[in-house]
Amino acid sequence: MITIKIIPMKKYSTYLASMLGSFLVLSGCGNQDGKSTSNGALASNNAEKVYVAPGEQDEFYAFMSGGYSGNLTVYGLPSGRMFKEIPVFSQFPTSGYGYSEETKPMLNTSFGFIPGDDSHHPDISQTNGELDGRWLFINGNNTPRIARIDLKTFETAEIIEVPNSAGNHSSSYITENTEYVVAGTRFSVPIPQRDMPIKDYKGNFKGSLSFISVDPEDGRMDLKFQLVMPGFNYDLSHPGRGKSHGWFFFTTYNTEEANSLLEVNASQNDKDFIAAVNWKKIEEYIENGGGTLMPTNYAHNVYSDETHSATSTMKKEVLTIDPTKVPGAIYFLPTPKSPHGVDVDPTGSYIIGNGKLSADLTIHSFDNMIAAIEGKKFDGEAYGIPILKFDDILGGIVKSGGLGPLHTEFDGKGFGYTTFFISSEVVKWKVGTWEVIDRKPTYYSVGHGMIPGGNSRKPFGKYFVSMNKITKDRYLPTGPELEHSAQLYDISGDKMELIYDFPTHGEPHYAAAIPASILAPKSQKIYKLSDNEHPNAVKSIPEARVERDGNTVHVYMAMIRSHFTPDNIEGIKVGDKVYFHITNHEQDFDVPHGFMMIGATNSGLLIMPGQTKTTVWEPKQEGVWPFYCTDFCSALHQEMQGYIRVSPANSNIDLSWSVGE
Ligand code: CUA
Repeated sequence: MITIKIIPMKKYSTYLASMLGSFLVLSGCGNQDGKSTSNGALASNNAEKVYVAPGEQDEFYAFMSGGYSGNLTVYGLPSGRMFKEIPVFSQFPTSGYGYSEETKPMLNTSFGFIPGDDSHHPDISQTNGELDGRWLFINGNNTPRIARIDLKTFETAEIIEVPNSAGNHSSSYITENTEYVVAGTRFSVPIPQRDMPIKDYKGNFKGSLSFISVDPEDGRMDLKFQLVMPGFNYDLSHPGRGKSHGWFFFTTYNTEEANSLLEVNASQNDKDFIAAVNWKKIEEYIENGGGTLMPTNYAHNVYSDETHSATSTMKKEVLTIDPTKVPGAIYFLPTPKSPHGVDVDPTGSYIIGNGKLSADLTIHSFDNMIAAIEGKKFDGEAYGIPILKFDDILGGIVKSGGLGPLHTEFDGKGFGYTTFFISSEVVKWKVGTWEVIDRKPTYYSVGHGMIPGGNSRKPFGKYFVSMNKITKDRYLPTGPELEHSAQLYDISGDKMELIYDFPTHGEPHYAAAIPASILAPKSQKIYKLSDNEHPNAVKSIPEARVERDGNTVHVYMAMIRSHFTPDNIEGIKVGDKVYFHITNHEQDFDVPHGFMMIGATNSGLLIMPGQTKTTVWEPKQEGVWPFYCTDFCSALHQEMQGYIRVSPANSNIDLSWSVGE
């Protein structure tokens, strides 16, 4: 029979192949060559389900994390068509994000400017537990940050760094009225950071769980408090909802507190914990003066749609909470076996622990948990935090028959859908009876799964998207690297049906999706030029000009179909530093203009209607150098160009500019 072994990565694919092979034989579903089973009569039916005819639109927007791209991609469902890549934690030359003067502050951190990250888990804002489509939050995993994307503009509006965290993985999930976006540390570290021996980890390193409030009006984030927890690894989290609203649940692994060879040393305990945090109780404690302000240093970066510019502010302290000082706020729920995902059903009654080294799903009952807490039935404590008894809180077990459960989503019709990495499948089971209803293979090694609204009180249970780690034979080979793969299942019937494959970019971890009918009507078409408060905007043509200040030259430029004002500039010298402040005067939907300058050691810009952006150019060579619009904006796009004359450093050519002369 199959046993779970710890295997080195190198041998992983062979291992996976053998696991897959044996499992598929055992379960009798799928087939050995990995080709789709949906040939013949069924296939045409499936084709209809994903076919979005020319001119028609998709039913859902899906936001896929970009993993090591640091960004977020937007897809339509069911078509699997990619609409946009939204730059979040990474410089993005396509638009100039992180290259323009206005957006460089977005990537500022306490470590300085960082050009990329690893983005994992998007979550859409909610009101009363239902998706409201205002904002989307996503975590930067490597240099811990949380970003807020404005779903009117599909642009990153804010990034807050999370101090005292390392590997910001159990993030960025929100509570049911978007009171908080929550960020938990994967690595425990010295808090505050200091120079100490690694071998002294146990008992000395700590894990921080951060609660970041979200302003209900403008979405602005504020790091309210940070729980300083025992030195475990905090892997994933989900909010309570409905009856369990006010609680937040975090999985842990490495409760052994190993600091080396974790694949063995962190797999010793039969059970790790899910930490249940009553954040309302912690709020009360803080209101009564609880908590300790700790000096720290973290960046808070905010983009303004009025000034079209970001500001970065360094914050200097954080309110830390010692969990042992708030009795009744935090409990540990024993959960087998190195749990990865923790998921809460739409009613908030059940907390699902996905033990990644287990075959079964452990279902904790929220009611049982409260009863055990009220009865003070504890099974000891860990670092002063009470441990509840496994049998007291158990709500049920899903005997899955699969291997390596990672994550569970819900369809709102009484069923859970759990992904299994090792056995490469998704298993549908019934909430309450815990019986397995259906199982379908994935190709291959699924990580997260996603149902639109699947992390809310009201899921839209029509599709399940499986986000697979290994693509292998699903697409044409593209060299050693294959894009990752998403698979779309129709879950409207009793049995799941695999209806489509589409590649995804970066390495998507989680995704979040919402009906297009909620989002599309709110989508912003232009920025009003009259509302543009950028200090260097050119709001009318007479304001266009060029100014010299020592070796610095500022070009205040306007653009409209199909010319720049000015388009001839003389009097620039080698050694100058030239700032182009460019305002797009268009006020029509879908008419951005681009800007690129020959030899600029910077990306170009893509400037939306009514927006101002700035890029820097340092001319190194004498000559007459062109610039042009990079976005095909009209029949005369190719005419949208200009020249800059660059003279020797000691030249006395006067600064001059013109258009149409
Ligand atoms: Cu403006 Cu092309």
